[in-house]
Amino acid sequence: MRTTFLLNGETVTTDEAPCVTLLDHLRTKAGLTGTKEGCNEGDCGACTVMVQDETGARALNACILFLPQLDGKSVTTVEGLAAPDGTPHPAQTALVEHHGSQCGFCTPGFAMSMATAHLNGAADHDDQLAGNLCRCTGYAPIIRAADALSAAPVPAHLSQPLPQTAGTGEDAAFRPTSADQLAPWYQANPDATLIAGATDVGLWVTKHLMDLSPVAFLTGCDDLKSVSVSDDEIRFGAMVSLTDVREAIAPYHPDMAEMIRRYGSTQVRNAATIGGNIANGSPIGDGPPALIALGATLHLRLGDTRRQLPLEDYFLEYRKQDRQPGEFVEAVSIPRQADRLKCYKLSKRFDQDISAVCGCLNVTVADGIVTGARIAYGGMAATPKRASSVEAALLGAPWTQDSITAAMAQFPADFTPMSDMRASADYRLVSAQNMLQRYFYEDQGLPTRVLGVQA
Ligand SMILES: Cc1cc2nc3c(=O)[nH]c(=O)nc-3n(C[C@H](O)[C@H](O)[C@H](O)COP(=O)(O)OP(=O)(O)OC[C@H]3O[C@@H](n4cnc5c(N)ncnc54)[C@H](O)[C@@H]3O)c2cc1C
Ligand code: FES
Ligand code: FES
Repeated sequence: MRTTFLLNGETVTTDEAPCVTLLDHLRTKAGLTGTKEGCNEGDCGACTVMVQDETGARALNACILFLPQLDGKSVTTVEGLAAPDGTPHPAQTALVEHHGSQCGFCTPGFAMSMATAHLNGAADHDDQLAGNLCRCTGYAPIIRAADALSAAPVPAHLSQPLPQTAGTGEDAAFRPTSADQLAPWYQANPDATLIAGATDVGLWVTKHLMDLSPVAFLTGCDDLKSVSVSDDEIRFGAMVSLTDVREAIAPYHPDMAEMIRRYGSTQVRNAATIGGNIANGSPIGDGPPALIALGATLHLRLGDTRRQLPLEDYFLEYRKQDRQPGEFVEAVSIPRQADRLKCYKLSKRFDQDISAVCGCLNVTVADGIVTGARIAYGGMAATPKRASSVEAALLGAPWTQDSITAAMAQFPADFTPMSDMRASADYRLVSAQNMLQRYFYEDQGLPTRVLGVQA
């Protein structure tokens, strides 16, 4: 299958198999071994590269990025970071001057994340670098280097033109350019694997060594990448990245945006899509609880037939969803509403960690009485799930501590969580109950967040 992209300014056309990762291409085919392989599952950032297209520059993990996702884009690796005359990029200089490197294994990845953030004018260094792990230097010198970098001008050579693509070559994978193209193909090939951001699917290849064929890459479906906001609803196309969801939702539901800040890392959010996060049906995905609490509607398409359903009804049982063979997620929409949403992501690490429990609460109160309650959790059941008994206990009750205490007692009626490596069943249950208490305290203006208390 033919893919054409710019690699450090040189046009590359390759006919490698569709599920070859960029990291494998760089290290084994292109001889560019500066990009490191650490975890090979998107967790450590040692493989970070900069990818540019008409929408801008993004840091991505090359280990879970398949070559066809790069068609028509420009890739910069650490070998292309210095200027053509050999002058180091100011990120490289800053890392040296601030002693930001010891063994150096992580350094190319840090340099690429820093250079991409710098190009985008992003100065939230902790967030920008949360997806890059260093086992020896300690992060303070690296953050100091990122701080120093902010003052430097962006080197001109990083504004890359985009290549002309050279056609798709042999038909080893389907690359639709619109949902209209995808729909009949997927209906005729219902056993195919759809690949959106590949932050899940990538691991099926790198860790489970699965052969995924046939596959369809949705990267070219620009019509699935739009966010629209009307008086009635906010609608996300399935291919909207978590980075873009975060930006779009921030003015309306800032707590969901804040929760997404802790979703994976910059590199993961730049690749992962909202459609993939829903379609995979994970019980611990962070998108669904927030969307369910907001009353989201899921838009599915099978050939020319479209249907919609409340998002919570899509999740039937563990990894089983209400999706027919050949049917795909086209969009998810939420009704416009006053913001009452709070999202509490509880994980072992603050950054770059999957939730043990993710609670999203949306309770409306009028004249001291609860008039609406949508409360959804991830990590508490085999699917993302509403706390129906808790909601029922709150509805119509006075918005008081007594009502909260009574509603907290209903949690065991809604959830029988499991114990696993992330949390015990008891811990999950008590944490979920406490999230309701916390929601109430926050609503009363009491500080509850560690970061809030620190500030
Ligand atoms: C390091 C790391 C950290 C992560 N952290 C988090 C986290 O904090 N929170 C969290 O929720 N998740 C996390 N994830 C999981 C992952 O990022 C999400 O589930 C992501 O949203 C999946 O989206 P994607 O576009 O990458 O999907 P893909 O990997 O491309 O696809 C996932 C599944 O969805 C299917 N699919 C994709 N698009 C569609 C569509 N439009 N219609 C039908 N089926 C479709 C695919 O066939 C596949 O079965 C993490 C992953 C990694 C690697
Ligand atoms: S090798 Fe660790 S994120 Fe790619
Ligand atoms: S310098 Fe050794 S891992 Fe970062």
